[in-house]
Amino acid sequence: VEVRLSIPAVDDWHVHVRDGAMLRAVAPFTARWCRTAMVMPNLRPPIDSWQSARAYREEIISVTQSVNPDFSPRIAVYLSPALELEDLRAGFAAGDIAAVKFYPAGATTNSDQGMGSLQSYLPLLEEMASIGVRLLVHCESTDPEVDIFDREARFLDDELLAVRQELPDLDITVEHLSTAAGLDFVRSHPRTHGTVTPHHLRSDRNDLLASGMQPDLFCKPVLNSARDRRALLDAVCEGEPRVSFGTDSAPHSMAAKRAETIAAGVFNAPFALEVVAELLHQEGALDALGGFVARNGWAAYGMDPPPFDLELVRHDRAERPRTVDVDEHTSVVVYGVEPARHWTVSRIPQ
Ligand code: NCD
Ligand code: ZN
Repeated sequence: VEVRLSIPAVDDWHVHVRDGAMLRAVAPFTARWCRTAMVMPNLRPPIDSWQSARAYREEIISVTQSVNPDFSPRIAVYLSPALELEDLRAGFAAGDIAAVKFYPAGATTNSDQGMGSLQSYLPLLEEMASIGVRLLVHCESTDPEVDIFDREARFLDDELLAVRQELPDLDITVEHLSTAAGLDFVRSHPRTHGTVTPHHLRSDRNDLLASGMQPDLFCKPVLNSARDRRALLDAVCEGEPRVSFGTDSAPHSMAAKRAETIAAGVFNAPFALEVVAELLHQEGALDALGGFVARNGWAAYGMDPPPFDLELVRHDRAERPRTVDVDEHTSVVVYGVEPARHWTVSRIPQ
């Protein structure tokens, strides 16, 4: 029997679209099926002011207009000592700043501008709670003594829990959940939401390491155990409303992914929806797709999404491109080509 379903678009609550030629090459993939996307600020220099957020938002719109004029990106600004409360307040009121992102210093790509512990920002976080700005958190302990596979759980216990308890009115998103412990944290605290990536739902550390190291699967937080992956996939299949789709699509050139020290990040924007559709199809849980990729994210922000419907059709395997070219010397490897071979997505005219 043919599988054909429609869903209310798909929105990406965590994406890296970079800048320059990379932005022009990758952002259209996100804009194609999304009404909105929460764009991360870890550029050099970081997006950490109203002015830089507004300029970045306009630049993204200018490169995505032709593929989807309805695409309306949201910008998260970088939490650092440079971020000023009055500027944040004004940028948020103007709609140019949508959220604030915290990176533990040094945890991942371009995260060395973050400074100090999350605790050290308590006064600003308190103001954010009162004006309704959500805090997005990269949850990874940077304590060198902590095992890499325990870093998410340790950050939650050692750093986020105290802030969660101190500021019960602050909306918090635990980004790119990679463990059952992270899922438990989200489920057991009010005003706490989680995003889940396609690759943490589909791949685990055996895929990364067991049959030869796969640099294109290396990302932060690192793919974790099969048991952790299963817990995340079960939550999505059960329709858990506290989690939504955030691809963490993070393109790096093929050269950077094959360097002596491999850059962290999986580029999944072209086939992110297809990966999740195929996983849920295999699990017999396609009825959970619309909640996960479309409804839950907007509900977390208490917003109603604009109408924008997609149709997905499953079919026999077709050819799909394995790389995206940025310029004549640079290309990026795409995640999820195999599952994407079964799906065709199209927009349903309103
Ligand atoms: C991201 C990147 O490359 O910007 N990398 C990653 O592995 N996810 C940064 C991040 O979100 O951690
Ligand atoms: Zn990210």
